[in-house]
Amino acid sequence: MCGIVGYIGSEPCMDIIVEGLRRLEYRGYDSAGIAVVEGGALRSARSEGKLDNLVKKLRKEPLTGQVGVGHTRWATHGRPSEDNAHPHRSGTVAVVHNGIIENHVALKRELEALGHTFTSQTDTEVIAHLIAHERKTRNAPLPEAVFAAMKRLVGAYAIVVVDASEPGTIVGARLASPLVVGLGQHENFLASDVAALLSHTRDMIFLDEGQIAVVTAARVELRDAETFAPIPYRATHVTWTPAMAEKGGFKHFMAKEIHEQPRAIADTLRGRVDLENAAVVLPEIPLGADDLARVSQIYIVACGTSWHAGLVGRYHFEDLAGLAVHVELASELRYRNAPIDERTIIIAISQSGETADTLAALREAKKKGARIISICNVIGASIPRESEGTLYTHAGPEIGVASTKAFTTQLVALHLLAIHFGRLRGRLTDAALRAELAALLHAPALVESALPREGEPNPYEAIARRWHEAHSMLFLGRGNLFPLALEGALKLKEISYIHAEGQAAGEMKHGPIALIDERVPTVVINPLDQHFAKVRSNLSEVRARSGPVILIASQGDDEAASLAEHVLYLPDAIPPRLMPLVVALPMQLLAYHMADFKGTDVDQPRNLAKSVTVE
Ligand code: F6R
Repeated sequence: MCGIVGYIGSEPCMDIIVEGLRRLEYRGYDSAGIAVVEGGALRSARSEGKLDNLVKKLRKEPLTGQVGVGHTRWATHGRPSEDNAHPHRSGTVAVVHNGIIENHVALKRELEALGHTFTSQTDTEVIAHLIAHERKTRNAPLPEAVFAAMKRLVGAYAIVVVDASEPGTIVGARLASPLVVGLGQHENFLASDVAALLSHTRDMIFLDEGQIAVVTAARVELRDAETFAPIPYRATHVTWTPAMAEKGGFKHFMAKEIHEQPRAIADTLRGRVDLENAAVVLPEIPLGADDLARVSQIYIVACGTSWHAGLVGRYHFEDLAGLAVHVELASELRYRNAPIDERTIIIAISQSGETADTLAALREAKKKGARIISICNVIGASIPRESEGTLYTHAGPEIGVASTKAFTTQLVALHLLAIHFGRLRGRLTDAALRAELAALLHAPALVESALPREGEPNPYEAIARRWHEAHSMLFLGRGNLFPLALEGALKLKEISYIHAEGQAAGEMKHGPIALIDERVPTVVINPLDQHFAKVRSNLSEVRARSGPVILIASQGDDEAASLAEHVLYLPDAIPPRLMPLVVALPMQLLAYHMADFKGTDVDQPRNLAKSVTVE
């Protein structure tokens, strides 16, 4: 999510770090900062907004040291501001961090009791204070202080640390968030991403989970974060171009973001599932059992893909919380006289948090006294600012215009919220809640197994080769997979420019079936779920009219291969409520490969913008 760069060597490091941050700016851009050890003291500069703001500051007051760290931020805790920008400092220690520290509230309390003063709203600041505490009270060398601090941290992170009182060493650590060491001549580098380092070196050490890198200008040592024992390593020579590196080796940001979904979903769940106490931990949602007892209905308000997430969310709220749910296109609701009142909860869903229609619908509902909460990916955006509480998806910046990881993380956020409301309304027993949460915790692995495996034939490429010249396609689904038919069609049309329609399978005979002929492929979403037999009949109706079928099927559906031109098999054993989350993958991959084969601009399709701030 955020970008990290560290340097130790004999060159003034300010420009090296800033140039590296520029390469990482696509990862986060709400604030940036740098800290450098200069004449035995720590000097730092931080700015809100784009990296250029920091550069302007540094032009006025350059930093001249030869050891330093820099960071470009995508906020997860604490709104974008100079105070919340990294590096965070405690005494002579400065830390940059990518990831989430789940237990930061408890650690902060503990450290405050020991006399530490906090100056930001971030989770990161506890790391700086923990390390400074270890340095001071146990006189631990920097690497050991980092090791000791890591023992206290719960979460996912990559960190890089400098200490002005030990200027010959820079320390990095990785736990579930990437970190790489770049090897130079009499200088070494650390970064969250090889893209930051390619202009200096192509020889890299990719840290594994739970490894600490102790880096001086002359050498690199890896240590185990559990035992502190030294670990042997081998450097890798990277041949990627800088553009390839930004996309993590993928051809497009969209492909990278599709593959990031297991990680993104894990981040949405992080710190929010308490199996032991059978609870969803959502302190950011200021609604208690009393509020939920008063509520008569939910209006979910969104546009585009976020609206499709809302349509899936309706099933969760109805099933788990027994609430009446209306799912509304924001551009329509804002001009309707809907019976919204103080007994209504509005859930506004928006990746960007800036969509003009969603914001306007939210404001209208607020005037009528509704309780407003939102699900959003961008911390501090307008929609969260105007909500009583926001459940952030923590998907990280989404660069591709077509929404992918934002969608699946919205589904997870809605699911969590529905379980939470079900609990507050007394609709879920401890056992039911635990079962629901345990299934959700398995979601990252399920989604991972829906991705094509390297080295195996990619079925999407074969479909794209055969059908990329199609003029029109249909997508059919039922129940909680009807919204996925809509999403599949939207993804396809927006990036491949092939006309596509998503239909509720049961509606086919009421009109759309007239479109079917041998040139119009139909994607039929037909896993072994409660609607299996009904959708199978709809599939037969398509085939009877010579319509080619691309079938999304379950393993164990023995008939599938004989009924369709192409079968895309889903992973095994998907709980029904997680089915939409997993089916999102074939919808995205199909659209992606069709567009890639056609050669359209996948990441920036014509006529579309990432954030729609006009009506
Ligand atoms: C489709 C897509 C759009 C957005 C819509 C709402 O792939 O990205 O349909 O979902 O413009 O945007 P947000 O979620 O930012 O409000």
